[in-house]
Order: sequence, then C-alpha cells, then structure tokens
Amino acid sequence: MRILVVGGAGYIGSHMTKMLLEAGHRVVVMDNLSTGFREAVVPGGEFVETDLADRARLEALFRAQRFDGVLHFASFIQVGESMTQPAKYYRNNVVHTVNLLDAMVQHGVTRFIFSSSAAIFGEPQYVPVDEEHPKLPTNPYGRSKWMVEQVLADYERAYGLRHSCLRYFNAAGADPDAALGERHEPETHLIPLVLQAASGRRPAITVFGTDYDTPDGTCVRDYVHVTDLCQAHLLALERLARGAESRAYNLGNGSGFSVKQVIDAAGEVTGSRVAVVKAPRRAGDPARLVADSTRARKELGWRPRHAELETIIRHAWAWEIKTATRFARAAAL
Ligand code: UFG
Repeated sequence: MRILVVGGAGYIGSHMTKMLLEAGHRVVVMDNLSTGFREAVVPGGEFVETDLADRARLEALFRAQRFDGVLHFASFIQVGESMTQPAKYYRNNVVHTVNLLDAMVQHGVTRFIFSSSAAIFGEPQYVPVDEEHPKLPTNPYGRSKWMVEQVLADYERAYGLRHSCLRYFNAAGADPDAALGERHEPETHLIPLVLQAASGRRPAITVFGTDYDTPDGTCVRDYVHVTDLCQAHLLALERLARGAESRAYNLGNGSGFSVKQVIDAAGEVTGSRVAVVKAPRRAGDPARLVADSTRARKELGWRPRHAELETIIRHAWAWEIKTATRFARAAAL
C-alpha cells in the first residue's frame, strides 16, 4: 500500500514509518518539524515538510499521489500545556485534523488510523478501562482527541470515511535495533526522564505524588511498547483494507506499574542508582490507568511482543546510551 504518515518525524510516527517500510509498503512522511526531528525521518520513503494548516499544500499532495491509507500522529501531547494554551491544542489537534480529513474526502481516500489517547476517558471510573468506559476528559488535550473521534463518526456517516481510533495508554520503549527512540523537547515522560537520570544527563528523577490511593502511593500506568503500538496500526489498517467497519481500540498491556516500580526496574536494567526527589502531585494525573485491550486482541489479533516492563526499559536504555554518548561528544566539541 502507499501510506501517508502524518507526523512521521515524531516518536511513534518514526517507528511506524520503519515498520511500514520493512513490511514492504510505500511511505510518504509529512511533518512540519515543530516537535519532530528531521533525523528521525526514516530513509526509504518520501519526506514532505509541510503543515496541516496549509490546505493548498495538502490539496496538492493528495492530487499528486493516490494514498491507500493515512496514519495521523501529528498532535500536541502535553496535558499541562493544554490547560494553559488550549487554543494551540484545539487548532492543531482538531482544526488541522479536519483539514486532513477534508483532503481525504475530496480525493476519495477512505482509510484513516487516528492516534487517540487514554486521556479521552478522564479519571477512570473503573479499571481496566475498556472501550465503552465513559468519555469524560479532564483537560483540553483529552477533549481534543475525543472531539476528533466524534468528528470521525460524523465523517463516516456522511462521507464514508472509515477509520480506526487507537487509544494509547503509556507509549514507551524504543526500536529494538536502537535505530530510533523517544525524543521530546522538553521531555516530560517518566521512562526517558528516569533513564536520563541513570545516564547522568539529569541529576535526579522527581516523583510527582507519593500519597495516591495505590499500593505504594505513586501513580500506576500501563506502559506499552512503541513497536507493539505500531503493530496494532498495521493490523488496524489491514482490517480496514479488508473492508471492515470503523472501530476504536484501547491499547495497553493490561498490567499497571507504579512510578516507584518503574524507577526500581530502571535501576535493575541500568545498574545505576537513580536519585529520587519527592514532589507534590502533578495536576490532572489520575491515580491508576490500565487498559482492557481484549477487543484489540480478539478483533485485530494484536499480540504485544514486548509486554514486559523490563524489555520496554531495556530498549529505551539502549537508545538513551546512544543519545547520551552523542550528547557528551557534542558537549566536548
Ligand atoms: N511522573 C513523575 N515524574 C516525572 C514524570 C512523570 O513522577 O518526571 C509520573 C506522572 O506523574 C505519572 C507517571 O509518571 O504518574 C507517568 O507520567 P508520563 O508523563 O510519563 O505519562 P502520563 O501518564 O502523564 O501521560 C501519558 C501520555 C499523554 C496522555 C496520558 C493519558 O504521555 O499524552 O498518558 O493517556 F495524555
């Protein structure tokens, strides 16, 4: 298939591009490089540097190439920032996504895979969280993702655009070959930050909240390997290509690990003692977030290959060592 990967210079989009190319698909990566990196664009496909705001460029791109499917990873993802800059989130994550959908409809492209998030559920009313759990997002980021899911339902009814909404829990880990990995600037995610503390790029890891109603008082999350997430995209795309109906899937491993358990596991993997600083709770963090991914397993045949937390951290650590070495070399120049 010829696939358009929007946001292919970012963390999950770059891993997706690699997997698609390895599976023999043709890939066009589109990214405005606002949060992605040119060097994360995997060679072997075509790269178009443009923004979803630019409707004329989008139109030209869809006119020039016939895509069999579109995968959309180009969103802003910081919950805290979305509280102080909601306009940035609604404009990019909602309005610009509608631009993309309109170009698809205009050119008869009918398969769309959307990167949604566990943030659409808000504070869980029960765990594990299945697809039917009430959608009560507690911040503009989560609302922007839920709005797009609703737009998609309307676009399917009116225009026949078929889609799959993949609701990621905590994406983590790195390409097992260490060719790619997680890079956000600024980094806000737990696992890369813990590993940066282990490699010495940071003095310590700050734990946000130790008084939650969880076994050790720190927040519990469902960490899912980035290549397992990508595998789910491939399966969802193949399913749409077989003519299946639109569907949403929750993607996680179904087991929760606390912040403290992640820090301990990182200590084991790296052999380093990570300094810990305790801090108050971070606004908007639910105590426990764990996925029920039964539907993805049953309907997509999704089988996460790297479900062990230790493996997720080991792959992220190989990437961190590579990054830290590059960082040290650059600092020495
Ligand atoms: N944490 C720390 N210290 C840090 C960073 C994080 O203690 O320096 C804690 C957080 O408080 C949270 C846990 O580690 O309890 C995981 O935090 P992350 O920032 O790694 O991930 P989140 O669960 O906050 O966010 C992820 C995605 C978001 C998405 C959210 C809900 O990154 O895009 O899940 O689905 F919105």
